[in-house]
Amino acid sequence: MEKSYYYFNILFIIILTSFFLTINSKTLNPEKPCKRLVLYYHDILFNVTNSANATSANVSNPLNNVLGDFNFGMLVVFDDPITRDQNLMSTSVARAQGFYLYNMKSKYNAWFAYTLVFNSSEYCGTLNIMGADIIEQKTRDLSIVGGTGDFFMARGVVTFSTDAVEGLGYFRLKMDIKLYECY
Ligand SMILES: *[C@@H]1O[C@H](CO)[C@@H](O)[C@H](O)[C@H]1NC(C)=O
Ligand SMILES: *[C@@H]1O[C@H](CO)[C@@H](O)[C@H](O)[C@H]1NC(C)=O
Ligand SMILES: *[C@@H]1O[C@H](CO)[C@@H](O)[C@H](O)[C@H]1NC(C)=O
Ligand SMILES: *[C@@H]1O[C@H](CO)[C@@H](O)[C@H](O)[C@H]1NC(C)=O
Repeated sequence: MEKSYYYFNILFIIILTSFFLTINSKTLNPEKPCKRLVLYYHDILFNVTNSANATSANVSNPLNNVLGDFNFGMLVVFDDPITRDQNLMSTSVARAQGFYLYNMKSKYNAWFAYTLVFNSSEYCGTLNIMGADIIEQKTRDLSIVGGTGDFFMARGVVTFSTDAVEGLGYFRLKMDIKLYECY
């Protein structure tokens, strides 16, 4: 009698625990972000003569080409304008502030860490982004690891695709920002 009561109790606890685990587990659908923004990132690399317009600068010092042809070791610091469309001259809706570095000797491959700083009537706050930019892939996903202000505690994924490349001096990325945690 005692024993069956004991087993019943155990069973009851297991059922109760699995019930709470089920109602607390969030299933995230990649197709259904709680917020989505498509923005364009413009990067104009400083080349000694374009200081008025440059928005990024190579701050590293590996000698050109000694480590291969893919900028391995080059670190670029940027304060890049972010627009809603592809036009560099459009009103910028945010700044992207941070850095990228080239991290492969055998092909172009980069790593980004930056903050999207919003300060407009539409949004005020930041999104912090980091991850690998595997340039040869048509699209690549980087993590949105946190946010502040209007993006308080946000998390999500930003999908990069290269939208334009003009020599070494300019490139444009399409950033498809999908947040899966919004507060
Ligand atoms: C630097 O960039 C500017 C603007 O794109 C270009 O006109 C100029 O020729 C470039 N200078 C060098 C040294 O590449
Ligand atoms: C800088 O941008 C302005 C337009 O804002 C353009 O007229 C000028 O030619 C650019 N200068 C360089 C060096 O690219
Ligand atoms: C980056 O800048 C350094 C000098 O600071 C230069 O030696 C190097 O060639 C530059 N790298 C590229 C890929 O332009
Ligand atoms: C945001 O914009 C306002 C108004 O233009 C300005 O006063 C404020 O300093 C800006 N804040 C930041 C953090 O840039």
